[in-house]
Amino acid sequence: MRTPVIAANWKMHKTVAEAVNFARDLKAKAAPVNNVEIIVCPTFTALGPVIKELAGTNIKVAAQNMHWELRGAFTGEISVDMLKDLGCTHVIIGHSERRQYFGETDETVYKKVQTALGSGLIPIVCVGESLAQREAGTAEQVVRTQVEAALQGFTPDQVAGLIVAYEPVWAIGTGKKASDEDAQQMDAYIRKVISGLHDQETAARVRIQYGGSVKPDSAAGLMAKPDVDGALVGGASLEVDSFIGIIKAAAGR
Ligand code: PGA
Repeated sequence: MRTPVIAANWKMHKTVAEAVNFARDLKAKAAPVNNVEIIVCPTFTALGPVIKELAGTNIKVAAQNMHWELRGAFTGEISVDMLKDLGCTHVIIGHSERRQYFGETDETVYKKVQTALGSGLIPIVCVGESLAQREAGTAEQVVRTQVEAALQGFTPDQVAGLIVAYEPVWAIGTGKKASDEDAQQMDAYIRKVISGLHDQETAARVRIQYGGSVKPDSAAGLMAKPDVDGALVGGASLEVDSFIGIIKAAAGR
């Protein structure tokens, strides 16, 4: 049985004080919740303070990006060791906003996944098709290419331990969540692709989230789907109460 994982992707929101206040409130409200893994993904500047605030809890902290090189002349970049040094356990890799606005490609995604896994940071690997690709009927093909590019050549245990987030680009920040059936269908398809790339047992262990306009009132139906193992949440993760609503929907599945 896969434990659902709910992650708050704050993107470029929250000062240190705002992030720490959120973390304090979240740890109180999440304390009674069982059987859900909770991750918050603050901006780089708030990572350290949020990790301190959440010390001693089960809530994990992820960065939203990292560089694939271990060190060097890369102005403005952050390395995996810097994230580990702070106490990060996870890192989002290949979010569609990074693919769309910051030149992230399947190749850089792969390199980052490789570096993260090599250093023991758990990647949350994002994949998903655009609206044009869905309308052209190529959604599965696009997602297959992204999954295969990102997850090739790792050991079964490495793959089984990471998280994949299916986030259709047209659903992110638009209020147009994919239907529960479409999310289930693509998550199941991703599991099939991973099974082909590795083996069935490995694929059965990987957690595959859905992301894109998930809200507290739409989370329960989504979480009831057998291949949807949680959510990567943007807008609805900025307020503790709505984020907790989604966590509770996952706990009740
Ligand atoms: P959204 O963002 O929930 O605001 O649609 C999801 C994401 O980009 O991870």
